[in-house]
Amino acid sequence: MAENKERRGADPGRRPTWLLTAGIALMATLATAAVVALLMNIMQRQQEATNPFFRVVELTDDTVDPAIWGKNFPMQYDGYLRTVDQVRTRYGGSEAVPHTPTNVDPRSVVAQSKLEEDPRLKVMWAGYAFARDFREERGHAYMLTDQTFTERQQAAAQPGACLNCHGSVYTAYKQLGGGDIFKGFDVMNKMPYAEAAKTTDHPVSCIDCHDPATMQLRITRPAFIIGLRALAKSSDPVPQLESIERWRSQGKQGDYDPNTMATRQEMRAFVCGQCHVEYYFKGAEKTLTFPWQNGLKVDQIMNYYDEVQQKDWVHADTGAGTLKAQHPEFEMWNQGIHARSGVMCADCHMPYTREGGLKISDHHVQSPLLNINKACQTCHRWSETELKARVETIQTRNFSLRNVAMDSLMALITDLKTAKAAGKSDAELADARNFQRRAQFYLDFVEAENSTGFHASQEAARILGESINYSRQGQVSLRGGPPQGVPQAPATAPTPGK
Ligand code: HEC
Ligand code: HEC
Ligand code: HEC
Ligand code: HEC
Ligand code: HEC
Repeated sequence: MAENKERRGADPGRRPTWLLTAGIALMATLATAAVVALLMNIMQRQQEATNPFFRVVELTDDTVDPAIWGKNFPMQYDGYLRTVDQVRTRYGGSEAVPHTPTNVDPRSVVAQSKLEEDPRLKVMWAGYAFARDFREERGHAYMLTDQTFTERQQAAAQPGACLNCHGSVYTAYKQLGGGDIFKGFDVMNKMPYAEAAKTTDHPVSCIDCHDPATMQLRITRPAFIIGLRALAKSSDPVPQLESIERWRSQGKQGDYDPNTMATRQEMRAFVCGQCHVEYYFKGAEKTLTFPWQNGLKVDQIMNYYDEVQQKDWVHADTGAGTLKAQHPEFEMWNQGIHARSGVMCADCHMPYTREGGLKISDHHVQSPLLNINKACQTCHRWSETELKARVETIQTRNFSLRNVAMDSLMALITDLKTAKAAGKSDAELADARNFQRRAQFYLDFVEAENSTGFHASQEAARILGESINYSRQGQVSLRGGPPQGVPQAPATAPTPGK
């Protein structure tokens, strides 16, 4: 009985024990599975945070269309698409205004005209295509259309070299050069614009900044590589560009190459420096050239242009051989306190942002004043209002000084015109014309720089001071003042970051 009982007892009793054991085992398994799953999830997330790859599609070194890249990287693509936004800031940002003159294409809704804002610009650029059409710049999404529809296209035949900075040309360079982007670059530079434009349908795209296999940043524009090579060989101190200083101190072996030598941090400025720089087209080949052989400062660039005897056009009113400065953001940033402190373009214009637990770079490249929280407050503890006020204080001071320099230049141009009309010889006008060339280039270097002085405020003020002085010296020379000789850049170029 007892046995039976035990048995019976054991029998029905066995089930619960067995169930319990099985239950515990199951729970243990489930718990383990849960822990493993959690661990895997954490590891995966860590992986994602460092290497956010969701390979939905295979990307190759020929995938130009950003929408395809967007399948793997939807958040970056979303930001990229938002570069169509148009919001003005006090001195920057962007804004669309209807454009009616010669263009009737509906896409020719363009940005605010800077010529209408300040008619003195037309006098400065008299005889040049810029006197016909020059506008506020806007987001990356518009770079191809704005270039196609600028009236400067009608004012003068433009070369394929223009596309380097307005289209996704990396694969086109490869195709034109049989795999060699340097060769393709040479081919495209001298093509007529309309023909070169057929090689691309996209503004700057993922493939122009990223290696599709690793997503690392890379340099795809030969003009920038050649420019940095020349800069590295110069004696301009660049403490803010550590890989160049390292190459110099290690005996200048081979050519400096940003793709193999630059730090990851430097690449966050170099990708932008491929386009946001001063340039000219060299010779009949129309080779897109960055004038950095002597260094990155305006004085060294001016001297370079004198050495190669470059003039962009002859001024219609005065006969001076003049130059047009273009968006030297990279050069000016290099002279500022932020570059000196290791703060790169992407830190302010593509700041990190959190999206669903991931830290990504905001691909909505825009004015940082529209995103002060992410762009500035990671480093500065001041309120948004205060930070904005600090920027606008710098900009307003810069703008007033720019206006003084502009008036000084207008006075020199008026005097030169009068002297020319009074029959003075070319020899008698030579000095004053040379001063106009310099006054104008220095002023334009700040005018064309799109931060209104912020990227390097003291340097911008110094340049405008030099410009005012050149205009004054030009006027003195016309009044038969003491001979000035050929003006020279200041003997001691200032050190960046001061
Ligand atoms: C410390 C932050 C910071 C860094 C670093 C920086 N910028 Fe800026 N940038 C600004 C601010 C602030 C403005 C002024 C924006 C405005 O007026 O709306 C500006 C303006 C600009 C503009 C005009 C934008 C507009 O909406 O009008 C361009 C283009 C630009 N920067 C490019 C660059 C490039 C290229 C680099 C690197 C070589 C760079 N910036 C580095 C803060 C920065
Ligand atoms: C392939 C050339 C190219 C590269 C690379 C490039 N830009 Fe630009 N960027 C342009 C052009 C061209 C425009 C003006 C487009 C227009 O006005 O239609 C522009 C406009 C801008 C503007 C003005 C936006 C606005 O809303 O007004 C900012 C800011 C800017 N770029 C910053 C950067 C930064 C930061 C980088 C690097 C991460 C960079 N760019 C890389 C060519 C380039
Ligand atoms: C080295 C790069 C580079 C080259 C080459 C270049 N651009 Fe640009 N372009 C830019 C950048 C950066 C901007 C935005 C900043 C600005 O507008 O100052 C811009 C802005 C523009 C704009 C809009 C603002 C304006 O000026 O009205 C037009 C139009 C334009 N470029 C046309 C051209 C044409 C035409 C050529 C060939 C002669 C050319 N670009 C060559 C970099 C370049
Ligand atoms: C003008 C250059 C430029 C273009 C064009 C560009 N990126 Fe980026 N991208 C950057 C920079 C700068 C970073 C930051 C990289 C770093 O810090 O090493 C970045 C980072 C990334 C990362 C790494 C994760 C992150 O967000 O920091 C991914 C993924 C990425 N970009 C995807 C894209 C895709 C997709 C496109 C096209 C839709 C694109 N990028 C276009 C400059 C660019
Ligand atoms: C990655 C860090 C970092 C970011 C992002 C940054 N800054 Fe700075 N900023 C610095 C450093 C470092 C200095 C140098 C002064 C110092 O060491 O405290 C500086 C200096 C300044 C100064 C003084 C400039 C001068 O000429 O003396 C101003 C104004 C300023 N920042 C504004 C801004 C604004 C506006 C933004 C956003 C658009 C910004 N900063 C983004 C690090 C940063």
